[in-house]
Amino acid sequence: MNVLGSANNLLLLLPTVTILALLPAKPILAADKGPATNYENVVGDSGEEDQTLWDTYYRVKGKTNLQPPIDIVKQMASKFKPGGKILNPAMAEGRNTIYLAAKGFEVTGIDISEIAVHHATAEAKARHLHFRPVIADLTKYDVPKDAWDGIVLSQFHMHSLLPKWRDGLKRGGYLVYYVAVDRGKGTRTGMPTEFMVKKNELEEFFKNWKVILRDEKMVGDQIYLSLALQKP
Ligand SMILES: C[S@@+](CC[C@H](N)C(=O)[O-])C[C@H]1O[C@@H](n2cnc3c(N)ncnc32)[C@H](O)[C@@H]1O
Repeated sequence: MNVLGSANNLLLLLPTVTILALLPAKPILAADKGPATNYENVVGDSGEEDQTLWDTYYRVKGKTNLQPPIDIVKQMASKFKPGGKILNPAMAEGRNTIYLAAKGFEVTGIDISEIAVHHATAEAKARHLHFRPVIADLTKYDVPKDAWDGIVLSQFHMHSLLPKWRDGLKRGGYLVYYVAVDRGKGTRTGMPTEFMVKKNELEEFFKNWKVILRDEKMVGDQIYLSLALQKP
């Protein structure tokens, strides 16, 4: 049982400092796994293991300069309701979260890694910005329904979570996705295909949603899909 998962609602209400103080001691990383140095290779067998592996990844990497936000997030920022509520699941160190907070949105950033969330909140603080940080395993986290003007997913995909994004958005709200596409060839980097989208997977799941932006680009040896959809 993941302590973080069961305490999600409570965590939402608490300031970051309290959240960090409530966390249990970290388990030790399984010796045969070794710390990943490329985040495409960080995959555990359970929520608890994922959290440990991601924490180890961010601890080993340390806090570095924040990556720039992804293009489709910048493009969609002008379409989101001004000052609206944006959810950024799996925000990592907050490149999109912090960008959207700077644009005046009320952003909630979630990540399973306490260390990533800590890096993101430290960065926001240094820039005199604010967002709501949540440390949680999204497979166990109850996303508030009809609550969000926008949901931004960047390099994080699980098919089983699609209903959470569908139900979480308000009518007229936007789902923004940036994700690797599985072409059935495997990958040079070792990114697991289960975290990629299949061809037309999102378009089929969100069948009657309006396509606002769609683009596919090669990044390294991988095709990345940028997709923005509007909930009817
Ligand atoms: C590939 S990184 C995402 C990067 C980020 N969205 C960006 O575009 O920079 C994946 C992130 O998902 C987080 N993550 C992995 N599994 C998760 C889960 N079950 N619940 C919440 N966050 C998770 C990891 O901690 C990591 O920060």
